[in-house]
Amino acid sequence: MGALAIKNVTKSFGDTHILKGIDIEIESGQFLILVGPSGCGKSTLMNIIAGLESPTTGEVHIGGRVVNNVAPKDRDIAMVFQSYALYPTMNVRQNIAFGMETRGVPKKEQDEIIARVAKMLQMDHLLDRKPSQLSGGQRQRVAMGRALARDPILFLFDEPLSNLDAKLRVEMRTEIKQLHHRLKTTIVYVTHDQIEAMTLGDKIAVMKDGVIQQFGSPQEIYDQPANLFVASFIGSPSMNFIPCHLAEQDGQLGVSLQSEGEARFIALPQAAKLTGSVGKKVILGIRPEQFDVVGEQGLACKVHLTEPTGPDTMVLTQLNGIEVCARLHPREAKGPGDTVRLQPDVSKAVLFDAESEARLA
Ligand SMILES: Nc1ncnc2c1ncn2[C@@H]1O[C@H](COP(=O)(O)OP(=O)(O)OP(=O)(O)O)[C@@H](O)[C@H]1O
Ligand SMILES: [Mg+2]
Repeated sequence: MGALAIKNVTKSFGDTHILKGIDIEIESGQFLILVGPSGCGKSTLMNIIAGLESPTTGEVHIGGRVVNNVAPKDRDIAMVFQSYALYPTMNVRQNIAFGMETRGVPKKEQDEIIARVAKMLQMDHLLDRKPSQLSGGQRQRVAMGRALARDPILFLFDEPLSNLDAKLRVEMRTEIKQLHHRLKTTIVYVTHDQIEAMTLGDKIAVMKDGVIQQFGSPQEIYDQPANLFVASFIGSPSMNFIPCHLAEQDGQLGVSLQSEGEARFIALPQAAKLTGSVGKKVILGIRPEQFDVVGEQGLACKVHLTEPTGPDTMVLTQLNGIEVCARLHPREAKGPGDTVRLQPDVSKAVLFDAESEARLA
């Protein structure tokens, strides 16, 4: 069995069901991301893995053994929380050493480990400082250092970067990724930031209301979102959701897109298996980068607004009465009031059932 397996875990506080049957399994060395909106149960699940909460039902396996009745300190895990929880009166060296002290690691070995961790996180020069003499990013590094001073089966990170400013977040994100690359440790990492999820994870579990909506690689989740929620949560700017009816033309299934009073049938090869569903209400999902500017065969779309980001320009227009964002090369973007002729990349578009919101094709 893998480094971590969560089997049908539920958690209720009184009558409130927070986790509703979670199943996850990862291999040793994998980086698992738990991502979802605030209150969906990420920290609750993390605390259950750590042993700080017990599941109402289900099993947690770490390193192949059931740990439901194993105390947190005996689970062979190291945690980093959002609040770094450093000891303010101790210097960095003492903060890193603290866990080792209580575990009875010999002094000489402690010194070696501190030197190794400090080198790894580039904080040799900070070892004698108190937390109050450190920046947010440096404190974060100390908290990581304390976790890295151990060699656990599992690292648990609960939103470790959320107290940092945007620039530092990005830097630390890269650092964590490099660290994982080098150490090949198994990590469970909670975030509500979809970019962090995409950039760090080998596997992502997208959660909503205590249910895993999809579990897969970042690319699977981006390209084949299981439902509207996942599609809207991952990706920025968000995927466009265009209400349509499934139609048939010349023996091909597709949808009709309207713009500026003009309608165009868009054949969707991936909808081929949906024969018998003609007329069904569907939602066509197209990501902003999945539009091309083409000649006469494209849909004439009036530009309402442009948002240049430098490398790309976001062009806001309307399709089927819905505001749609297309990410275009600045050279092709034009300006408000102008018309661009757009063609969606149908090979990448996804179809959702308008009722169940599940992906159809
Ligand atoms: N001890 C508790 N008693 C009752 N309800 C709780 C308890 N702990 C958490 N909850 C509730 O469980 C839900 C999930 O909380 P949790 O902290 O797991 O969310 P989260 O996904 O980590 O959110 P965030 O992104 O805001 O940290 C919330 O509605 C919260 O109010
Ligand atoms: Mg949380």
